[in-house]
Amino acid sequence: MNIIICPTAEAASLRAADMITEAVRKRPETVLGLATGSTPTLLYKALIQAHRDGLDFSRVRTFNLDEYHGLAPDHPQSYRRFMEEQLFNHLNLDLANTHVPDGLAKDVAAHCAAYEAEIKAAGGIDIQVLGIGSNGHIGFNEPASSLVSRTRLVALTQQTISDNARFFDAADEVPRHAISMGIGTILEAKRCIMLCFGEHKAKAVRAAIEGGVSQFTPASALQMHPDTTVFLDEAAAADLELKEYYRWSAANQPA
Ligand code: F6R
Repeated sequence: MNIIICPTAEAASLRAADMITEAVRKRPETVLGLATGSTPTLLYKALIQAHRDGLDFSRVRTFNLDEYHGLAPDHPQSYRRFMEEQLFNHLNLDLANTHVPDGLAKDVAAHCAAYEAEIKAAGGIDIQVLGIGSNGHIGFNEPASSLVSRTRLVALTQQTISDNARFFDAADEVPRHAISMGIGTILEAKRCIMLCFGEHKAKAVRAAIEGGVSQFTPASALQMHPDTTVFLDEAAAADLELKEYYRWSAANQPA
């Protein structure tokens, strides 16, 4: 893992945006894996700015990590709606090239298999954007998810339900299930970028980066990925034992 500690979430998001814009410039049909939630909003703002500055997204294809089960695509809290509001509507993406699992899929298992097949048909994900849950989840792969799991229906933990209640009028409106790419799906992305901001993430960050690889901390599976960069703000990095080494290493990259 390449660990980059930045003074602020904004600085970290700009660094992550640079990696994505460089990839899109080099390969206009880049396949992006995308996340929702509070964490990537500054990154998405930076991508929108890059588009305003001339970057073409018309051939980019996107696959989102997850969607709440039972929410229609136009539900105010659906992840499809989130993506449209925070990113898709502000870029010149072809909406037909954007993919978010369908929270209303009738045959969920068939839908999940088709989602995996679509990722494969697109040539796989070039860059997967990830946030981390306060319990160490990535996507909605909660603790105890198999490290080789694929896209499937998952039950959310009480922790995730209460973490995400802030987006809903009441905690009992948060769906109890979601369709999520699996950890095995995520690990097949050619490159992963994980963003972690805020002191409420520090414990999960330490377990993911410096703990053992364990299904108990799904983000720790990224230790097995050959090209993962973790962008942290100071608060999220606070508990890292080798913090000073990561800073030194980032500042002293071989030429
Ligand atoms: C969302 C997702 C989740 C979030 C995580 C952090 O698509 O996959 O894993 O990245 O729950 O959420 P925030 O950013 O709201 O703290």
